[in-house]
Amino acid sequence: MALSLQHCLLFSLLTTLLFASSLAETSFRPKALVLPVTKDASTFQYLTQIKQRTPLVTVTLVVDLGGQFLWVDCENNYVSSTYKPARCGSAVCSLAKSGACGDCYAGPKPGCNNNTCGLFPDNTITRTATGGEVAQDVVSVQSTDGSNPGRSVSVSKFIFVCAPTFLLDGLASGATGMAGLGRSNIGLPTQFASAFSFHKKFAICLSGSSSGKGVIFFGDGPYKLLLNTDASQGLIYTPLFINPVSTAGVYSQGEKSVEYFIGVKSIKIDDVAVSINTTLLKIDSNGNGGTKISTVNPYTLLETSIYKAFTNAFIKAAAARNISRVGSVSGFDVCFSSVNVGHTRVGPAVPTIDLILQSSSVYWRIFGANSMVDVGNNVLCLGFKNAGSSPRTSIVIGGYQLEDNLLQFDLATSTLGFSSSLLFRQTTCANFNFTSNV
Ligand SMILES: *[C@@H]1O[C@H](CO)[C@@H](O)[C@H](O)[C@H]1NC(C)=O
Ligand SMILES: *[C@@H]1O[C@H](CO)[C@@H](O)[C@H](O)[C@H]1NC(C)=O
Ligand SMILES: *[C@@H]1O[C@H](CO)[C@@H](O)[C@H](O)[C@H]1NC(C)=O
Ligand SMILES: *[C@@H]1O[C@H](CO)[C@@H](O)[C@H](O)[C@H]1NC(C)=O
Repeated sequence: MALSLQHCLLFSLLTTLLFASSLAETSFRPKALVLPVTKDASTFQYLTQIKQRTPLVTVTLVVDLGGQFLWVDCENNYVSSTYKPARCGSAVCSLAKSGACGDCYAGPKPGCNNNTCGLFPDNTITRTATGGEVAQDVVSVQSTDGSNPGRSVSVSKFIFVCAPTFLLDGLASGATGMAGLGRSNIGLPTQFASAFSFHKKFAICLSGSSSGKGVIFFGDGPYKLLLNTDASQGLIYTPLFINPVSTAGVYSQGEKSVEYFIGVKSIKIDDVAVSINTTLLKIDSNGNGGTKISTVNPYTLLETSIYKAFTNAFIKAAAARNISRVGSVSGFDVCFSSVNVGHTRVGPAVPTIDLILQSSSVYWRIFGANSMVDVGNNVLCLGFKNAGSSPRTSIVIGGYQLEDNLLQFDLATSTLGFSSSLLFRQTTCANFNFTSNV
């Protein structure tokens, strides 16, 4: 009797333990995910890595903030037992908003199957688009508590698009696709948020350092950077705008852009307004004009008339600080001798650039660390480029201006939170602790 009671207790204890551990295993729901980002020294593209397929392989991808979805080369070396093409008329095709349906005679193989729907992956570096099969496969990334990477979690049917190998031309060496963070149904932020039921928020923190890694977080903060800064705190918020006309290479009528636009109303340099044609700062009904944020442009691009007014104002403000101009160097028109330029925590002491947003008290201030490119020989160049006289978008804020700034995109409220330079807070985007704590 006593024995059997003991037995019984032990048994129930064991089953409780087993049940608890299997529950913990299956019910682990990450609050956020984390990806490392490095800058490729020869192309200035920002690269991340995810694991995909069965068995899992590491896939290197170019980060495309405004990209529509994940696309990878399926033509070369795509081996997976869990690859699943999206059948025409399936829920996946409608979620992906794919109207195109077709057969592929060279298959069956990943990227080439009958009766599947297709989309148009964009190489936004070379502005090349082509058709590709919509598919699903396992994607695995590391979760995070905001301080370190934690255990890996998988999405078993992550939707992506297959591309032919030629679409990789122009991408950094080793990259086999692009990670689109745009606000489409199948962009990475939306798929991760729905797979793990977390807030439709993500943040990017790019590093220009050749040794350190920047970071992308999916989900809400904390976003902890050493030593002990939560970069999700103290952000300045501005509305995100939707461009009514798609900016993709191929799109159908009525499709909106999935890129991130903000409302720059004016620009000030050392507190003096630059005279610009404000019509160019608005997005018109054809989708032209406005300001977007891009990770595929290494430097900010300005429409010609804005570029001229902006550089003239900067040259004047620099002269007022006794900074002398020198000839153009390495593709930059506006360069200065660094001799009279002081050093500050936020880079060289040059005129500040303010992008004025929804009101005069809300602005994105760009300091020397994000405006000046050190080209050597005591020469600093203004890291902004002339986009020509009628670009689709008047201002494209590029990678160099984003480095060591944290940007948090909230898709549910259509709001951007930005930190301005983290160097002020004595940290950088290369300060996430990538040592796993599991
Ligand atoms: C696709 O369908 C065509 C006929 O429409 C057939 O000839 C071909 O074998 C099929 N290919 C595959 C991979 O099933
Ligand atoms: C301002 O830009 C708009 C759009 O390009 C153009 O139509 C208009 O003529 C410009 N205005 C001036 C004063 O240049
Ligand atoms: C610039 O140089 C002039 C002449 O050397 C000097 O008088 C002036 O104070 C300097 N201004 C600044 C801002 O350093
Ligand atoms: C980084 O995280 C690891 C794991 O939690 C920890 O042991 C280490 O002390 C951290 N590094 C710093 C510099 O805080």
